[in-house]
Amino acid sequence: MKVRVLGAAAGGGFPQWNCGCAMCRKARAGDAHARPRTQASLAVSADGIRWVLLNASPDLPCQIAQAPCLHPAPGVLRGSPIAAVVLTGADIDCITGLLSLREGHEFGLYGPASVLDILRRNVIFDVLPAPRVPRRVLDAGATEDICDARGEPLGLRVTPFRVGGKIPLYTETSDKIEELLSPDAVIGLDITDAAGHRLVFIPGCNAVTDALRARVDGADLLFFDGTLWQDDEMIRAGLGHKTGARMGHISVSGEAGTIAAFAPVKLGRRIFIHINNTNPILCDDSPEAAQVRAAGWEVAHDGMEVTT
Ligand code: MLT
Ligand code: MN
Ligand code: ZN
Repeated sequence: MKVRVLGAAAGGGFPQWNCGCAMCRKARAGDAHARPRTQASLAVSADGIRWVLLNASPDLPCQIAQAPCLHPAPGVLRGSPIAAVVLTGADIDCITGLLSLREGHEFGLYGPASVLDILRRNVIFDVLPAPRVPRRVLDAGATEDICDARGEPLGLRVTPFRVGGKIPLYTETSDKIEELLSPDAVIGLDITDAAGHRLVFIPGCNAVTDALRARVDGADLLFFDGTLWQDDEMIRAGLGHKTGARMGHISVSGEAGTIAAFAPVKLGRRIFIHINNTNPILCDDSPEAAQVRAAGWEVAHDGMEVTT
């Protein structure tokens, strides 16, 4: 299985267009220790020829431009190696790249019912009409082949599973997190190839439960929500009023954080993705980045390629 990180940042990207914080300035200035990152997405392939996108970020056109594996193959006049897209949520950073996949291309589109429902209610997504872009519901716990638009399997099987998370920001009608959490809003993806290699992708998650630990145990690759270093970092930095918990994200550090939560879990590689521009692990030379590396985690960057 080949995996390419198309984007490693959380919603907003790094640097974020309207952010003047020290880290965003460092990234904008071209500091080699603060590499810019686009919004989170992976491309996955069993054969290195046909690819599946995990989420379609607003930065997708730039991400495709940077990824030779996603360019039309030699001799192809019109066409793309992108054969399917699998969505984990309906946040802006997960779905809006779909609008850049028009131009007559066909692909299979997968997502949980709650996410496909949001696409259905927003007529702009009708620019991707079935049968050119058939929409297929992912049910938590059910394993299925990921197929192209015509139903041809792509050599990858997916088992979606529930993770704790929140409804999309633009559908919020309350400021109380208890009222915004939903068991159906966000999913994680467990993807295997014919050889049994296993990738788990969880770009958004608000808590690591025993069930989740058991779910990911033994995976060759885990890409996990690295949104914030600590829960109140946006407030401390004067950049916002929300905690990570309010945004539906667990933090990386601390006793209840992600590093600690996954410490007992057996994994080939553990990699943070969906990293907010306030998280100091985005700067390679920060003490926090060193702490993450010492704990056996990696920090994803755009263009990172992993084969398993
Ligand atoms: C998130 O993951 O919290 C979202 O990307 C927020 C947003 O829509 O900007
Ligand atoms: Mn997001
Ligand atoms: Zn910033």
